[in-house]
Amino acid sequence: MLSYRHSFHAGNFADVIKHIVLIEILEHLLSKDKALHYIDTHAGAGMFDLTGEHSLKLQEFRDGVGRLVPEDWPELATYFSIIHAHNAQADLAGYPGSPMIARSLLRRHDRAWLYELHPQDSLLLTETIGRDRRFRVLQEDGYAGLLGLLPPLTRRGLVLIDPSYEVKSEYSRVVEIVLKSHRKFNTGTYALWYPVVERERVVNLERDFENSGIRNIQRFEICVQPDSKERGMTGAGMIVVNPPWTLMARMSVLLPRLSQTLAQAPETSFKADVLVAQ
Ligand SMILES: C[S@@+](CC[C@H](N)C(=O)[O-])C[C@H]1O[C@@H](n2cnc3c(N)ncnc32)[C@H](O)[C@@H]1O
Repeated sequence: MLSYRHSFHAGNFADVIKHIVLIEILEHLLSKDKALHYIDTHAGAGMFDLTGEHSLKLQEFRDGVGRLVPEDWPELATYFSIIHAHNAQADLAGYPGSPMIARSLLRRHDRAWLYELHPQDSLLLTETIGRDRRFRVLQEDGYAGLLGLLPPLTRRGLVLIDPSYEVKSEYSRVVEIVLKSHRKFNTGTYALWYPVVERERVVNLERDFENSGIRNIQRFEICVQPDSKERGMTGAGMIVVNPPWTLMARMSVLLPRLSQTLAQAPETSFKADVLVAQ
């Protein structure tokens, strides 16, 4: 079942936290010379038109990236420079997804694998990436693809796992895939995005990671509304295995302000905590 299209949601508050964490991790890993392998198991279309029909239908970006004034966030200079580089005008007309963020930061000797199953999004991604020999776009299952790539030859790798959680089994599937991947490559960095739709699912996800036997796991989350039993996403987070040592300090400063700036209700919250110590 592939009904989800990220173009309806691009640039929303959940993308903001995901892409900020992604950039923080990439910048740290790229400060060392040795080649990095970037694997995006759910890559999406790459670039999103915020003036297009899909984006304008829900206009979620207005309560996400649209709320952030670059001058107020010098700490997010890289994030804004990547967005700026993908917009011809000063207006926010396009929003770069995770593949384009990686493409902006990776160096000549780094390599990337982008998995996208949706035929249209996969085609769009292929066109957007164009002729870039560092990148491979594959219209294949990202979970199976990931396991086949590990461990990378260079033993330096970042894996972004960003499913849409359309089916509830995805919550257990992501834990299983991180466990299997970690067995093959235990020094890799794994960044898993999750939505807060039903709090119980997130609590179970946390518990599964805490009981996984994997060490060194951190979690970063913002909630722009209080938890609710109604339908709809009230928050989003990233679970990071083997995070850069700098990440906790950086996110602990950013998250309180971000959760306030992106608030959709008077009561908001954030989490920056260690799920499993080193
Ligand atoms: C949340 S979106 C990705 C957004 C993207 N990572 C970004 O940050 O710009 C999830 C994508 O995963 C794709 N997808 C779903 N199941 C997949 C699978 N098993 N393997 C690869 N792609 C999948 C969907 O078509 C969708 O485009």
